[in-house]
Amino acid sequence: MNKKIAIIGGGNLGSAIAEGLLKSKFCKPADITITKRKINTLQKLKEKGVNVTANNAEAARNSELIILAVKPYQVGDVLGSFSKELSNKNVLVSVVTGVLISEIEESITMKLPVFRAMPNTAIAIQESITCLSYTNATTPQINFVKNLFSTLGKVAIIDEKLMEAATVLGACGTAYAMRYIRANIQGGIEIGFDAATASLIAAQTVKGAAELLLQKGTHPEQEIDKVTTPKGCTIAGLNEMEHQGFSSSLIKGIAVSYNKIAKN
Ligand SMILES: NC(=O)c1ccc[n+]([C@@H]2O[C@H](COP(=O)([O-])OP(=O)(O)OC[C@H]3O[C@@H](n4cnc5c(N)ncnc54)[C@H](OP(=O)(O)O)[C@@H]3O)[C@@H](O)[C@H]2O)c1
Repeated sequence: MNKKIAIIGGGNLGSAIAEGLLKSKFCKPADITITKRKINTLQKLKEKGVNVTANNAEAARNSELIILAVKPYQVGDVLGSFSKELSNKNVLVSVVTGVLISEIEESITMKLPVFRAMPNTAIAIQESITCLSYTNATTPQINFVKNLFSTLGKVAIIDEKLMEAATVLGACGTAYAMRYIRANIQGGIEIGFDAATASLIAAQTVKGAAELLLQKGTHPEQEIDKVTTPKGCTIAGLNEMEHQGFSSSLIKGIAVSYNKIAKN
């Protein structure tokens, strides 16, 4: 299915989506229109052949798939700026954090397929996990949106009531992983490495560990068993980390993040 795509809100996320679609050759540059009010920051995309405009209505009129990538408080006004252009050829995808599908439906006058997507910052290098929920969509529409986000990383279809949980595990999760890597770097320096070498070893080790799980579909504990020699240094270190509350502190942190987001 070849669809023209409008990205309304060409900020960090909107631009990263456009870059990813170009890199993966998901669609031709001329099939993408990206908007924002100050379009000077979109010059690089323009040079690559993407249509750049400050006119949301024009972008929506010329597109089938419309990706809404503005800040949550801007959603009402921005939807209002192009809602008259919507017709039954359109599919709406919102990447806006915390805005419900039902709230988007209330802001538009007609019943359309509406998707809500929660990617993370690794979308900039096409390594996001994007959690998707949707309403009113047909199988081809679902497949199209799934394929689009698959070019930007991996995709999980979830119930919308799990969107806050997806935000914590998938989006806040990047920050948790960074802290884990940072602690490894600090430890690595203490045992003799310079900061640059410690950073490389720590980041690539975490990437390799994640790839083992993703590519082999194993459970972390199966991979841990392969590294833990009886009476060896790995199990001694791991057990000390657990005595100090390693897994427990992570689980508690995730629960605190979730309670904070779920209350708001
Ligand atoms: N960054 C992430 O990794 C991430 C992950 C998951 C979800 N999200 C969600 O994605 C949304 C966008 O995040 P972001 O980090 O990309 O924010 P951002 O960089 O501030 O991008 C929002 C863009 O919207 C543009 N905009 C504002 N009013 C507009 C209008 N009337 N018409 C067209 N464009 C308009 C702004 O540009 P002008 O001021 O020039 O118009 C701005 O560049 C947020 O709701 C965020 O919660 C982000």
